[in-house]
Amino acid sequence: MAPADTPDRDRLIVALDLPDIRVAEAMVDRLGDSVGFYKIGYQLAYAGGLPLARALVGAGKKVFVDLKLHDIGNTVARGVESLSHLGASFLTVHAYPQTMKAAVEARGSSKVKILAVTVLTSYDDRDLADAGYRFGVRDLVEARARQAQAIGVDGLVCSPEEAAHLRGIVGPEMDLVTPGIRPAGAAAGDQKRIMTPAKAIAAGASYLVVGRPVLDAPDPKAAADAIVAEITAARGS
Ligand code: C5P
Repeated sequence: MAPADTPDRDRLIVALDLPDIRVAEAMVDRLGDSVGFYKIGYQLAYAGGLPLARALVGAGKKVFVDLKLHDIGNTVARGVESLSHLGASFLTVHAYPQTMKAAVEARGSSKVKILAVTVLTSYDDRDLADAGYRFGVRDLVEARARQAQAIGVDGLVCSPEEAAHLRGIVGPEMDLVTPGIRPAGAAAGDQKRIMTPAKAIAAGASYLVVGRPVLDAPDPKAAADAIVAEITAARGS
C-alpha cells in the first residue's frame, strides 16, 4: 500500500510514452510541479530514457521504470541492482515465480519497489490457450497475485476492472497500480477496459498510470491537475 502520507499528486504517474528525450524533457518542464511521478517504458528507455530517469530523480521526481523484466534469475537480479542504483521507485517484472524471487532478493533494502505484471491486459483466454496455458485470465491473474504476495513482491500492475477483486485477494498492503485510466470524456484509444480516476481509486487502486489523456491534452498541466483533483475527491482527503 502507498504510505498514508503519500500526496495525492504522487498517486498520478504520467507515462512518458514519447519518442525521444528532447520531447520528454519539454513535457516534464510543461507539467512542472503538477506531476511528481513519471513512468519510463520501452519506447523512451531504449531512446536515452534511463539517463533521463536519473536526472528526474535528481530533480526530486519519482520514477517508475516499466521494463517488465523476465529472464533467468541471475540476469533479472543484476538488472534490478542496476536499476536500483538509478534511484527508481518502481520497476516491473513479469509474474513468474523465479523472476519475482530474483527481483525481490536483488532489491534487498534499496528503496525500489517491485511490481509484478500478472497477465498482460492485451491477453484474453484464447491468447493464453494459444500460448500453451491451461488457465484462463481470471484464474491465472488470481494465482499469480497470490504467488507475488507470498514471494514478497510490493505491488501488482492491473487493469482498474481487476483492482477490486485483487484488493480482496491480496488485502490492503500491496500497491495496485492501474493503467487504463480515462477521465470522463477522454478518448479510450486502444485501451479496452477503462475507468475514470475516481472509480479506479474507489476500486482500490493505489496509483494511476496515465499517458495519452495528459500527453495529448491541449493543456497537459491542467489535465494532470484535474486528475489529481479527482483523486483527492475520491479519497475524501
Ligand atoms: O496512454 P495510456 O494512458 O493508455 O497509457 C497507459 C500506459 O500504461 C502505457 O505506458 C502502457 O504501456 C501502460 N500499460 C497499460 N496496460 C498494462 C500495462 C501497462 O496500458 N497492462
